[in-house]
Amino acid sequence: KNKMKCMLMAIMVLQMLFSHVSSLHRTQFPSTFLFGAATSSYQIEGGYLEGNKSLSNWDVFTHMPGKILDGSNGDVADDHYHLYTEDVELLDYLGVNSYRFSISWARILPRGRFGEINLEGIAFYSNIIDALLLKGIQPFVTLNHFDFPYELEHRYGAWLSSEIQKDFAYFAEVCFNAFGDRVKFWTTFNEPNLLIKFSYMIGVFPPCRCSKPFGNCTSGDSAVEPYVVAHNVILSHATAVDVYRRKYQAKQGGSIGIVIATKWYEPLRNITEDYAAAQRALSFEAAWFLDPIINGDYPAEMRDIVGSNLPEFTPAEQRLLESKLDFIGINQYSSTYVRDCKYSSCQLDFYEGNALVFATDERDGVPIGKPTALSGIFVVPYGIEKVVMYMKQRYNNTPMYITENGYSQKGDSSTSMEEMVNDIERVEFIHDYLSYLSNAIRQGADVRGYFIWSLLDNFEWAFGYTIKFGLYYVDFDSQRRAPKLSAEWYKKFLNGSNLPK
Ligand code: NOJ
Repeated sequence: KNKMKCMLMAIMVLQMLFSHVSSLHRTQFPSTFLFGAATSSYQIEGGYLEGNKSLSNWDVFTHMPGKILDGSNGDVADDHYHLYTEDVELLDYLGVNSYRFSISWARILPRGRFGEINLEGIAFYSNIIDALLLKGIQPFVTLNHFDFPYELEHRYGAWLSSEIQKDFAYFAEVCFNAFGDRVKFWTTFNEPNLLIKFSYMIGVFPPCRCSKPFGNCTSGDSAVEPYVVAHNVILSHATAVDVYRRKYQAKQGGSIGIVIATKWYEPLRNITEDYAAAQRALSFEAAWFLDPIINGDYPAEMRDIVGSNLPEFTPAEQRLLESKLDFIGINQYSSTYVRDCKYSSCQLDFYEGNALVFATDERDGVPIGKPTALSGIFVVPYGIEKVVMYMKQRYNNTPMYITENGYSQKGDSSTSMEEMVNDIERVEFIHDYLSYLSNAIRQGADVRGYFIWSLLDNFEWAFGYTIKFGLYYVDFDSQRRAPKLSAEWYKKFLNGSNLPK
């Protein structure tokens, strides 16, 4: 009797929940649209020393005291290494037709190109891919999501050296060769722009390099290294795509892109200078990578400001770069106001300062959107439409995938499961962002997929396990997973249910 009562209550809550949001329907998106959820290797796998995997840069970093807010690490994380079949069932329950995940480089090539291919690592991802395909779920694979074999850092300083281009191209080819018969969607890098800011500008991610006034590190140069690293990332991307195009694409029939974190920058004041500032901020965020990969060179407004600290591409590199992607992956979470600092002086902060803009989350004391658990990230649903329309216009409607979008909750071991599972805010977030995304599609934007970050609560980098993005709640003691309200909502949406106004 009690069970019945509970079920009825749950149904009532769901009905209430679905009756106050405005209508959104699966048919507002193309029938071939990919709907999925996303994860990354270090954040969920665990098994950090199993199956011949070597230490990654993140394994080493998280084991240094004081680096992660709650002192945690990804040694076990969601134990996906052992529970992946169960996790594929969770995806199947949602009814998604795609799953975005990343491959741990250190599992496939424990010593980079200086050692053997690890067949146990290949088998692990092969099994995941097969399990997904059995359920009709398309694997959408990221080659590099922040983690790589520590040996490459130790040997030659990883991304600071052009040596990394050879290692990355080799790693990519091993993956195309091993998985490309079944994987039709590849991305080379996840958010290189954010990685560079955190690792080489403010020094809070490994290898923790920066210089004052940007951050408080003992080694590094925030004015130079970010641009050197980006240069190597861009050329690594282009080399890997070149290999794919020449040797695999025709035979395997897949497509390949790159994922950029893109905030929307809203002019603070209704004046030309702030509109230009917003464009500049977008250049320093996304066009920094996409202009070279699509058109062969950095944006002129970057060259203007960064000058000789921005490396040059040789003519041969420019030829290599031309049209080196099939789609743009966009991670879109938040927006911020910006005001000009080029024509009037203002205090530049470490983050958007390079673009000579000042970023602020408030206008006349009113925040740009509701705050989320992650500081600096606000709920601004219209931002996704703006970013997509910006990309459409700047890159001639190159196909796009929203490779990440999601809502964070605060929660540590003292937060109850009930509280975490009852994530009405996440339902509203996904609903509203999807509505604005559908506006962009209606205006002709060639968006082909959308992935929620994340399938599971997981290891949120420097924040450890204190910030939760999952559609599924994870009890990290028992490793039990439970669908949150948002998971049930997504399932209903994907099922084609009419979600009433
Ligand atoms: C971006 C990153 O790709 C992912 O690893 C991270 O967990 C989410 N955004 C949330 O911060």
